[in-house]
Amino acid sequence: MNVGLKTLILPAGAAATAAAARALADGALVAFPTETVYGLGADATNAAAIARLYQAKGRPAFNPLIAHVGDLGAARQIGRFDAEALALAEAFWPGPLTLVLPKTADCAVADLATAGLDTVAIRIPAHPVAREILRLFGHPVVAPSANLSGHVSPTTAAHVRSDLDGRIDLIVDGGAVAVGVESTIVGCFEAPMLLRPGGLPRAEIERVLGRTLVQPPADADSDSGQPLAPGMLASHYAPRTRVRLGADRIEPGEALLAFGSHPVSGIDAASAVMNLSARGDLAEAAANLFGYLRALDTTGARTIAVMPIPDDGLGEAINDRLRRAAVGRE
Ligand code: TXA
Ligand code: MG
Repeated sequence: MNVGLKTLILPAGAAATAAAARALADGALVAFPTETVYGLGADATNAAAIARLYQAKGRPAFNPLIAHVGDLGAARQIGRFDAEALALAEAFWPGPLTLVLPKTADCAVADLATAGLDTVAIRIPAHPVAREILRLFGHPVVAPSANLSGHVSPTTAAHVRSDLDGRIDLIVDGGAVAVGVESTIVGCFEAPMLLRPGGLPRAEIERVLGRTLVQPPADADSDSGQPLAPGMLASHYAPRTRVRLGADRIEPGEALLAFGSHPVSGIDAASAVMNLSARGDLAEAAANLFGYLRALDTTGARTIAVMPIPDDGLGEAINDRLRRAAVGRE
């Protein structure tokens, strides 16, 4: 895990935002204020940094993350805007609104950050410190709320410190935030959908759209047996190919998603083999997970056989996503 890092805390200002941009470029984890809540930022194109980000939050789960960008041009490089999405962006960005859009063909956001989905959540924050960091860094930054998993979102640097001291590299202290609740999330599908109520009132969004936001279906996450968590609509990636978990031998024609260096019987007859981490490193495996699943899904194998993966640390989240992939989209 990340525990044992020295967490630097800098007051907001030119030195802090420059240090933040440099740290992000180095793959480090940086907490910074946005107008809604403090975010824990990582380079959105760096899967290894994103794996560490999930670790730092504790009890890691690969929920898809919001990509923060500095302007609409940068947003359009990663998400496909229809007329309604564009109207919302023009009315409310920068501000406490997140749009979930189809990814562009050359979307640079790592598969791990979007949890392998074909959609990406995007926001242009309004806070001047967040904006300056994004401007200096020049690439999208994924940032979940900067709290330990299961804790409430932080609205001061002290909250961030009490949850994440020793687990992240830098905290930029910009004082208390203005909004105090997370951004409102709208899914820009055929009918725009309210995925999470938040800092921007629904009525303001509906006024710009000239129509009512639809509610996510109550059974949208029925495979988990839980009520729909905010923003979690169809939030898991499922390959078309059947997925077989806990494989210790390979049937002819199966594709193998390996982990570690244990020998697997039948491997010579596998149609394709990819190893999530030959040295058995769970962070490396997490960084490769969705990309490798997608790659094996296109090989035409009848089954993707997945070797057992330890359930500790990031392994718990890896196994959760693999179980969902095995169940499929239903
Ligand atoms: O105000 C905010 O939005 C803060 C600040 C830091 O920007 N960020 C934040 O991130 O609240 P987080 O990770 O705590 O919440 C992100 C939400 C999750 O509920 C996630 O499921 C949803 O966004 N989300 C992200 N990508 C999605 C996608 N492609 N489809 C559906 N939901 C998505
Ligand atoms: Mg959160």
